[in-house]
Amino acid sequence: MEKNILIGVTGGIAAYKVVEVASRLKKSGANVKIMMTRNATEFVSPRTFQEITGNAVSVEMFGDAANFHVAHVALANFADLILIAPATANFLAKMAHGIADDLLTTTILAFDGKILVAPAMNTKMYENPATQANLSVLKARGVKILEPNTGNLACGTSGKGRLPEPEEICAEIEKILAEEQILAGKKIIVTAGGTLEAIDPVRYIGNRSSGRMGCEIAKFAVESGADVVLISGKAEIEPPNGLKSFFKVESALEMREKVLNEFETADCVIMSAAVADYRVKSPAAQKIKKSAENLTLELVKNPDILRELGNLKKNQVLVGFAAETQNILDYARKKLVEKNLDFIVANDVTAEGAGFGVSTNIASIIWRDGEIETFPLMSKAELAEKIVLRVEKLLNDKKFFPVGFNQ
Ligand code: CTP
Repeated sequence: MEKNILIGVTGGIAAYKVVEVASRLKKSGANVKIMMTRNATEFVSPRTFQEITGNAVSVEMFGDAANFHVAHVALANFADLILIAPATANFLAKMAHGIADDLLTTTILAFDGKILVAPAMNTKMYENPATQANLSVLKARGVKILEPNTGNLACGTSGKGRLPEPEEICAEIEKILAEEQILAGKKIIVTAGGTLEAIDPVRYIGNRSSGRMGCEIAKFAVESGADVVLISGKAEIEPPNGLKSFFKVESALEMREKVLNEFETADCVIMSAAVADYRVKSPAAQKIKKSAENLTLELVKNPDILRELGNLKKNQVLVGFAAETQNILDYARKKLVEKNLDFIVANDVTAEGAGFGVSTNIASIIWRDGEIETFPLMSKAELAEKIVLRVEKLLNDKKFFPVGFNQ
């Protein structure tokens, strides 16, 4: 799960369990940040959370003036989801009424995404009509409430009010994020596979692309709610279900035509196809018969589809690939600029576990501002998720925060 999760910890004894929640989320690949109320710091030290998450913990609204930053807005922009655990009765009352008197409550007010609240308190406090009324208000506003469990409570009694176990909280977060249609209403064109350039009616010039990377990208974009148009050359992989349209093409010229037809109404194009740079100038109308000792084919340059899109581009996000065998980052950076892309995915196709015909890849993403993200060996499905999530950030105008970002 590659998501930005912000956890708000309020002042209850169950705060210790949230250390385990943060640890599990971090291990699953999420970028986790913690904000605490001052009371929460009486139960768990911010340092504990800092060590677990690798990120600074936010407590105070007004920090060091020299490093002034609108902390609550930065934290709200960072988060894909906010979890409040444990949520005290006092916090629920404040949230229900829009009170913003510390960093945590102010951040909540500045956030318009998914919020999961996990209340934990003494049974009488939980069942008090005031608390129940506040929970009803929050539910009606679309806030997800994770009901407390029944069991022994820290106050010595037994009843409803225990914070659910860390694995239950993490499972609920996974469930909420999976439901998220972050690309709903966005049209994304994905190209996949390799183009075929005819020599005669029987033969062609082709390449080793399997189409797997493009299909994985299309699949994840569909799962994220996008209207996906997949335009595929020769591929060994079946297209995913749920596409808005699917076009099978052969040559670079056909691929260009389909992409251009769809481009104006698109929000993003991800060009993962291996497009032939050259085609046979005059393919033979009939099968070429074997006769002369040498046969020379004259090739002419194909149009560069992505470069054309880079020139036509208005608000569309453009993503390219650079499959290289040497000077990977330099060549990729050059393509990024020349084709006017938002980011480019570069890989060394000669490295073991990368390139054509395998289900894994080792890639780097290069951004316009020069930033480079280098990823370890991972499945093409995982890389597809990373690419699509970055597109989503750009489309929804959120800044991308690489892992380790501190506000
Ligand atoms: N591309 C394209 N049209 C072409 C060739 C490439 O749209 N005629 C796209 C590819 O889909 C990829 C990016 O451009 O996203 C880079 O492709 P690549 O083959 O690595 O680069 P080229 O620009 O063709 O340069 P070279 O082959 O010289 O490395």
